[in-house]
Amino acid sequence: MLRFEETFMDFLLEHQERHNRTYHFLILMNSILNAAKRIQHYYLTGALRGSLGLAGSTNVQGEEVLQMDQIANDVVKHYVGSSGRVIHAVSEEEKEIIPMNLEGGRYFIYYDPMDGSSNVPHNLPVGFLFGIAKRNLDGPEDLHLRAGHEYIAAGMFVIPTGTFTLALRNAGCWRFHIDEVMNYVKPTRMVLPENPKTWELSFNSANRGTFAEPIREWITEKEKRYGFRYLGALAGDFHRILTNGGLFLYPAIVNHPDPAKNRPKGKLRLMYEAAVVSFMCCEAGGSAVDEEGMPILSIVPEKPHQRTALYVGSKPLVEEISSILKKARS
Ligand code: AHG
Ligand code: MN
Ligand code: MN
Repeated sequence: MLRFEETFMDFLLEHQERHNRTYHFLILMNSILNAAKRIQHYYLTGALRGSLGLAGSTNVQGEEVLQMDQIANDVVKHYVGSSGRVIHAVSEEEKEIIPMNLEGGRYFIYYDPMDGSSNVPHNLPVGFLFGIAKRNLDGPEDLHLRAGHEYIAAGMFVIPTGTFTLALRNAGCWRFHIDEVMNYVKPTRMVLPENPKTWELSFNSANRGTFAEPIREWITEKEKRYGFRYLGALAGDFHRILTNGGLFLYPAIVNHPDPAKNRPKGKLRLMYEAAVVSFMCCEAGGSAVDEEGMPILSIVPEKPHQRTALYVGSKPLVEEISSILKKARS
């Protein structure tokens, strides 16, 4: 007996119609899916093509650019730009905000086309992360950078695993799987498990000694209880946390033996990494805060490539961390 799973597009069409929405968002999402499939293809064939190495330049963050970073960025820019629905894009790979359809565009997109670069030479999982906000349709558009609580959707593809997770504002967090004809199918609602039995902690343990003391103590207390898991690609690490519960943390680096290597603002980028997973997590019943214990989604970006420390996952753990961080500051 053949079995036909519901596709992402059918799911979204139904959602838009149920809420009396236009098709503009559907058209934008279609372009994002086209981009993801194309990136998936380039990544799966990357080792054979010889495109998993360095591109020979550095990006706005001063990091070495990989050929795959460039390919993925070009792919996203092409598809999202030709959807005609985007005013401005922010890409991890481009210093300046990218103007698209300034007159007719309705959305802002903030994206990291290839996240988890240390996995690229090994062809291991990476992510394509994006957040979407809407232009001001009721008055003049001020083109400011939006805080996470203003996103209307945020999602991530884990590549080449073939999973796609998308959160829609006030409509939950959903996971899809790629099928044999490259459709994302089988919507499953993601809700963080309340039972701590499966919870995990995810962080780079090589950095453990560089975290603020109360965070180090908290980890020591928790390590008896929870397993540690770390892939080094936010999309993959957060994918596990969404399923199993627990906490992903990339704290501020404040005790590095070489003080020049401290990162008091953390490593992850607010608009297209931290706010994206935090938005998904909140729609799945979780929570997310920064190094001050303040909600990630309430941070209004001052610049497109701003960094933040990140604690994201099950509410009880985020609440514990948040009160520890607030106490340390008072
Ligand atoms: P990018 O590859 O886009 O520069 O970002 C990698 C990010 C993120 O995916 C991951 O969680 C984190 O950096 C890993 O950093 P460490 O290698 O410092 O653990
Ligand atoms: Mn990244
Ligand atoms: Mn990247």
